[in-house]
Amino acid sequence: MQLLNLTPVDAFLDPYDAALTSTPSSSRFATAKRSHLAGELRASHAGAKVKLGGWVHRIRNLGGIVFLDLRDRAGLVQVSFDPKWTPEDVIERAGKLGLETVVLVEGECAARPAEMRNAEMETGEVEVRARDFRIVGPAETPAIPVARGKGEKLPAEELRLKHRNLDLRRGELQKNIILRHRLQQATRRYLDERGFLEIETPILTKPTPEGARDYIVPSRVHPGEFYALPQSPQLYKQLLMISGFDRYFQIARCFRDEDLRADRQPEFTQIDIEASFIEPEDIITLSEGMLASQFKETGQEIPARFERLKYRDAMERFGSDRPDLRYGLEVFDASEAFRGSDFGITNSALAAGGRVRGIRIPGGAALSRKQVDEIESIAKSAGAGGLIRLKRAAAGLEGPAAKFLSESGVERLGIGEGELCLLVAGGEHVSNPALDRVRQDVAQRLSLVPANKQSFLWVTDFPMFIREQNGALSSVHHPFTAPNPDDIELLDSSPEKVRALAYDVVLNGLELGGGSIRINDPALQRKVLSLLGVDAKTAQARFGFLLDALSAGAPPHGGIAFGFDRLAMVLAGATSLRDVIAFPKTTAARALFEDAPSTVPPEDLRELHLQMTS
Ligand code: AMO
Repeated sequence: MQLLNLTPVDAFLDPYDAALTSTPSSSRFATAKRSHLAGELRASHAGAKVKLGGWVHRIRNLGGIVFLDLRDRAGLVQVSFDPKWTPEDVIERAGKLGLETVVLVEGECAARPAEMRNAEMETGEVEVRARDFRIVGPAETPAIPVARGKGEKLPAEELRLKHRNLDLRRGELQKNIILRHRLQQATRRYLDERGFLEIETPILTKPTPEGARDYIVPSRVHPGEFYALPQSPQLYKQLLMISGFDRYFQIARCFRDEDLRADRQPEFTQIDIEASFIEPEDIITLSEGMLASQFKETGQEIPARFERLKYRDAMERFGSDRPDLRYGLEVFDASEAFRGSDFGITNSALAAGGRVRGIRIPGGAALSRKQVDEIESIAKSAGAGGLIRLKRAAAGLEGPAAKFLSESGVERLGIGEGELCLLVAGGEHVSNPALDRVRQDVAQRLSLVPANKQSFLWVTDFPMFIREQNGALSSVHHPFTAPNPDDIELLDSSPEKVRALAYDVVLNGLELGGGSIRINDPALQRKVLSLLGVDAKTAQARFGFLLDALSAGAPPHGGIAFGFDRLAMVLAGATSLRDVIAFPKTTAARALFEDAPSTVPPEDLRELHLQMTS
């Protein structure tokens, strides 16, 4: 895909907008101060008088002739100050220009002689022959460089985030932010065409349970009371359905105080959707179409229908509810191969009701002991006691466990020549996370992940609840998710067995979105809350507004929310959400550029009825 092979430094004309390149006489970017964007000039503009405004990206003074690469949002163009067309005093001033100074340049766009053309620059067939220029935004020496030579490393990320205004001038980030804009517009178009109404919901609100901690905001006018920032607009979108809006969407900001990773930000954006009188299939079809339209923005076609896996099967075959299906390494059950053997590790796991599960790695027998040790430490960090290793070399099965296996046991394992088999003995709560991590690591290590392949998957039939260590039930999605009507009877007797009408969409092992059909019966909603340990009084205090609304004529409804930053990250070919968010937070939830969070004066705290305790 073109997008993923961006030539890094110089070429960053918005590739999503074919209409950007103007005709010689008209640019839609023309203003009272300029005629064109620098980066939009092409051979067809040769001969045109141009006025450009932009930043000094690079400057070369070749003794008498000065070449300036002028940069703006559309890219770079070479401006030449040459005695053949530029007055001497102008050349002299140009030679002294500092990097990142903002200038207005006047001249003529001219075709470069054949030997001077630069195929690596989008504007490489032309140059601007300067007659004059004016400094309109002087710049001190930039704290971090914007221009980079080929192969030159970026400054450390902390430094870049601290000087984000400069960092955002880089072509890669400009491209990502422009792509983000395009995706937002495509999303709005797609949903608007299907009758979805864009409705804003409050930011100062009540806690919404999505499984993270809330950010809370003290109220000045109500001492001791707090707003919460929304973890999602979940309850509002349900209320909008109850109010009869029928189809809602919002490109919504959400706030969650949780442990951060490359694919998590404390403040992130969802494409939030809700609709009435629907079944899961309606949301699934709508979502597939929406993703197709978004991927089309970068010229990628995706399958019209995505693969599907039930939660149970996903966990059994991949140890994860968001498996990456771009490679094999399926998990298999090796319990029977070990049953009845004298191997203590597997015997105690089997006796405790656990299993022996693992993966077979084609070509894995060639991995060194050190490499397998590294893989084992990953399994251990996910909770496994260790990995049982078996490999099939020409001489036969090797590994400490080999001697415990009978002939039929070896056969059951089914390890082919050159394969390495890595096994975890224990309960699923241990083997699933460990094998999930091992699978991902091995795929990376052995380069089994194909480039440029997008693998979409729906995971369905999630359980409603999971049982926590302390015995309490908690929601797998959120407490407003409807149970599968076939399982309602099990709510009292075995709630863990109740399936939810919930679905997640997974892309390349990344959870891109998730949603469900909601409970629209207030009695059932009360029951689910009580199973979650929320007593009737607390239910009324926290969710009374929802429960009352559900009693006032609530249509059947459901929806989904997509992680918009994650979508933009995948489409930009980026590896961190920070590369597709203009002003992101660090993994320590800090905004380095504006320096937040920060302390506030004691009088401000007093006004908010707050006191520091340490
Ligand atoms: P959920 O909590 O699954 O569902 O969130 C939906 C999607 O939002 C993205 N996401 C995040 N992205 C970046 N940083 C984060 N901290 C973060 N947390 C979540 C993920 C996720 O799939 N109200 C429900 C949706 C519904 O039921 O309709 C909800 O918020 O891509």
